[in-house]
Amino acid sequence: MIVYFSGTGNSRYAAALLADRLGDELLDAGGLIKEKKKAELTSEKPWVFVAPTYAWQLPRVFSDFIRSGLFEGSKDAYFVMTCGEDIGHPEKELYELCRVKGLDFQGVLEVVMPENYITMFSAPGQEEAAKIVAAARPVLEEGARLIGQGKGFADRHPGLLDTLKSTVVNGAFYPLFVKAKAFYATKDCNGCGLCEKLCPLNNIELQNKEPVWGKSCTQCMACICGCPKEAIEYGRISKGKVRYQCPEYKG
Ligand SMILES: Cc1cc2nc3c(=O)[nH]c(=O)nc-3n(C[C@H](O)[C@H](O)[C@H](O)COP(=O)(O)O)c2cc1C
Repeated sequence: MIVYFSGTGNSRYAAALLADRLGDELLDAGGLIKEKKKAELTSEKPWVFVAPTYAWQLPRVFSDFIRSGLFEGSKDAYFVMTCGEDIGHPEKELYELCRVKGLDFQGVLEVVMPENYITMFSAPGQEEAAKIVAAARPVLEEGARLIGQGKGFADRHPGLLDTLKSTVVNGAFYPLFVKAKAFYATKDCNGCGLCEKLCPLNNIELQNKEPVWGKSCTQCMACICGCPKEAIEYGRISKGKVRYQCPEYKG
């Protein structure tokens, strides 16, 4: 079963492609997370966990979802991490996650997709994004081939810097940057409530037809990039920036 988490569609696109090639089921973990439900799943086909990279690891909300869930049937677990640049060195943590779940770690596939982290960096424009997504396709096709043949993903060879990013920097990242405090709606907001629906953590509530952010944000970019009016900003840093959603798979 292909189980995915996605803020702006890259990982959903990757997951849908894998599900198609493998003739397997596709499950949106975001839907269960939003309803505060734990996974209680059974699959005879390998588990394929697909998610964006947040500070060179799986998003914590997704690793917590896996850790707290029940995954019965197949023991094989593959990880596919989409990223804007690189996934760092998440193997040790993924291996440990598999160990506590009684799953066999079959490797992690790095898939470079367009950057979506617009509260920190910038996302590419449409043309550039389409090129990046096209270049990711053969990587995913090869990943599907390996999973289909029951082979593990190729070993990666991360360096010391990658290890530091996935450990020290990841540890500092959450307390320092993963906050909703700076999100606000501009006068262009028409109170449509899509942001409330899109938030996988149920962290947005419409009050007097205006979104109000709570404290459990994971900075997935679904609200700010999914707003049809581009009426959500994050302090001053998001002003004038491209709002990104995967061109192949609009939410
Ligand atoms: C909070 C946050 C942290 C991110 N950290 C990384 C990172 O460490 N390395 C990287 O290459 N890309 C990073 N990105 C970019 C995303 O991993 C990438 O754009 C991903 O494909 C988005 O997937 P989605 O569209 O399924 O949400 C980050 C994005 C966000 C929002």
